[in-house]
Amino acid sequence: MTQPRSRILGLGGFLPDNVVTNHDLAEIMETSHDWIVERTGIEERRWVTPESGLTGAIMGANAAREAAEDAGVDLKEIEMIIYATLSPDISFPGTGVLMQKELGLKDIPCLDIRQQCSGFIYGMSIADNFIKAGMYKKILLVGSEIHSTGLDKSTAGRDVTVLFGDGAGAAILGVAENEDSMVLSTHLHANGKDANILWVQRPGCSFHPRITKEDMDNRLHYPQMQGKRVFKHAVTKMPQVIMEGMMANDLKLDDVDMLIPHQANLRINQMVAKMIGLPKEKVHNNIQKLGNTTAATIPLCMQDAVKLGKIKRGDLVVMVAFGAGLTWGSVFLRY
Ligand code: UT7
Repeated sequence: MTQPRSRILGLGGFLPDNVVTNHDLAEIMETSHDWIVERTGIEERRWVTPESGLTGAIMGANAAREAAEDAGVDLKEIEMIIYATLSPDISFPGTGVLMQKELGLKDIPCLDIRQQCSGFIYGMSIADNFIKAGMYKKILLVGSEIHSTGLDKSTAGRDVTVLFGDGAGAAILGVAENEDSMVLSTHLHANGKDANILWVQRPGCSFHPRITKEDMDNRLHYPQMQGKRVFKHAVTKMPQVIMEGMMANDLKLDDVDMLIPHQANLRINQMVAKMIGLPKEKVHNNIQKLGNTTAATIPLCMQDAVKLGKIKRGDLVVMVAFGAGLTWGSVFLRY
């Protein structure tokens, strides 16, 4: 009996309406449009407002509905949910079940995963392997993030705060009908040795109590990043894990139609493309308008490229990501 293979049946996305430009940020902290664009490529991002009532679960559900429509699938056919986020709506239970409730999908399994910027890549690999094992035929994978409520919006936090945006992206994976459209391979890595170069330390369940006023005075509840070290790891590991997939699939660079890189910094992606020798026409970026939406960047970027006609069915697409953990990975697929 031949093993089933998976494919992306459809893609969806959802963004809050509220646009925050670099000029808006320059009014609340010491930064400038020119600094942000020159160092990161970001021009604006979306941040939820309290009035919008948006949660990660609601945004994820909206992205999921769009993916289902794109796939021509009734959401009731979904057999499993994988929800990737670094910004869960509440401490527990996982946000996957909250999104499941939004979607009215009872009794199917929900798996929350915490691989930050690599969350969607890890989710693709998990979904691919459940389908290959023959356990499920249709899986909903969502990356959804609300960063804006947890960022330090004073000048002390400017290195991190200007980078991040809110949003959600989704894909529905199903069984491939032929080799023209299927996931070819997935490649995952992590190394906790440098977990402390990008993290949020409080609240934490191993502390007594989980957070104190002193912790907050020391800004431990905000993300802290050693930017240059993260940058260096990203431009090393992303080319490596792309080459790993190229070799596993016996591909040449010319075979690649489009690279969908995680959107953390335009300069990182330009450097990665240069290092592997991929022309800039074969790399799609949308960080300029969205900033870094972590687990949502890959599906939002891929959906954007599909909508623009830059990716067509059957094209060879490479997804690659790097993020906190440290975690990194790639997915090779024929869309
Ligand atoms: O999703 C994965 C996670 N994140 C990443 O992949 C991010 C990786 N790192 C980066 O993208 C870059 O390191 C940053 C964009 C975060 C920072 O760029 P950089 O070229 O590494 O700048 P830097 O941290 O060395 O800072 C240079 C200067 C500093 O001032 P002094 O010490 O030279 O006076 C910073 O205080 O720029 C200052 N600075 C800013 N100035 C204006 C830092 N952030 C800002 C800001 N606006 N937002």
